Amino acid sequence: MGILEVKNLNLGFECECGFRQALYDVSFSLECGKMHALVGESGCGKTISAMSILKLLPKTAYITGGEIIFKGKDILKMSGHDLQKLRGAKIALIPQDPMTSLNPLYTIGDQLLEVIKIHQGLQGKDAFNKAVEALELVQIPCAKERLKAYPHEFSGGMKQRAIIAMALACNAEILIADEPTTALDVTIQAQIMSLLKNIQSDTNTAILLITHDLALVGENADYVSVMYAGRIVEKAPADEFFNKPEHPYTLALLKSMPASKRSEKLQTITGQPPTIQQFINGCKFHPRCSQCMDICKNVVPPVYYVGENHFSACFLNKDDNCSQD
Ligand SMILES: Nc1ncnc2c1ncn2[C@@H]1O[C@H](COP(=O)(O)OP(=O)(O)O)[C@@H](O)[C@H]1O
Ligand code: SF4
Ligand SMILES: [Mg+2]
Repeated sequence: MGILEVKNLNLGFECECGFRQALYDVSFSLECGKMHALVGESGCGKTISAMSILKLLPKTAYITGGEIIFKGKDILKMSGHDLQKLRGAKIALIPQDPMTSLNPLYTIGDQLLEVIKIHQGLQGKDAFNKAVEALELVQIPCAKERLKAYPHEFSGGMKQRAIIAMALACNAEILIADEPTTALDVTIQAQIMSLLKNIQSDTNTAILLITHDLALVGENADYVSVMYAGRIVEKAPADEFFNKPEHPYTLALLKSMPASKRSEKLQTITGQPPTIQQFINGCKFHPRCSQCMDICKNVVPPVYYVGENHFSACFLNKDDNCSQD
């Protein structure tokens, strides 16, 4: 049992041309001390799936079905007051652009102290010491001095560290990291990922890592869910994801992975994922799938279990289906 279960989440947008569905029966769970990666090309629904967990969605978004259970309670049914308590305190977001979380008008120390005062009930020197400790924990050197700095005086990597420090300071049980290293250079990316990994094991935090970088997934994740056009098309433990991938879209993603270890020639996936305005019958990957069959054009493939905690939503896996306890 996970600390958070997203079950059959359906979501759509009210657009100029009418209502358009963007998420179809999205289900996944997060476990304490584990990292679950959500991967897929841009526009596949990763961010809106994550933002649904915090109920931080655009005004035009409507959740039309499903549940998001956190410690036995459905987040989707929570009052505004309970949601406020949940955000930041229990479930923290590490965004792609750290400036969206940091206020440029206040020092890092002011912002960190505010979090500590609210969530840990500390005041004065105790709160200050805790803030220093939090920055040290995320390996920011000269922490005492750095508390006086404004966000613009921090590099991108340091801003992300400061946001992670804030999440830790309020003892968040779940961290949602949406492309947390995309804006950073490769060395800093690796440092931030190893920081997240340490936090995960030291504090038993559950992490949802959203990324299109499969190398990060290979090095860090425990489970992987692959999204395509608003649906999870394959889910697997990370080792099986790399060693025994099933879904043609997963295979295409892996072939496009610029990893030195892979001997095959790098291939890009031809075409683009559909927008929510473009309705595609049957399997939404069929226009791009080299193994497309007639049935794929008309029928949505169900989920077939191909191993323990490993499924693929592809008709090619029909005969592999095994029951899950
Ligand atoms: N405010 C919005 N109004 C209409 N469509 C949106 C809005 N936000 C996102 N979408 C659409 O929802 C789909 C999923 O978006 P998103 O979750 O941001 O994808 P990802 O994070 O995987 O790149 C995309 O097709 C996107 O165009
Ligand atoms: S269901 Fe058909 S079109 Fe879809 S991924 Fe499988 S083989 Fe390709
Ligand atoms: Mg996104």
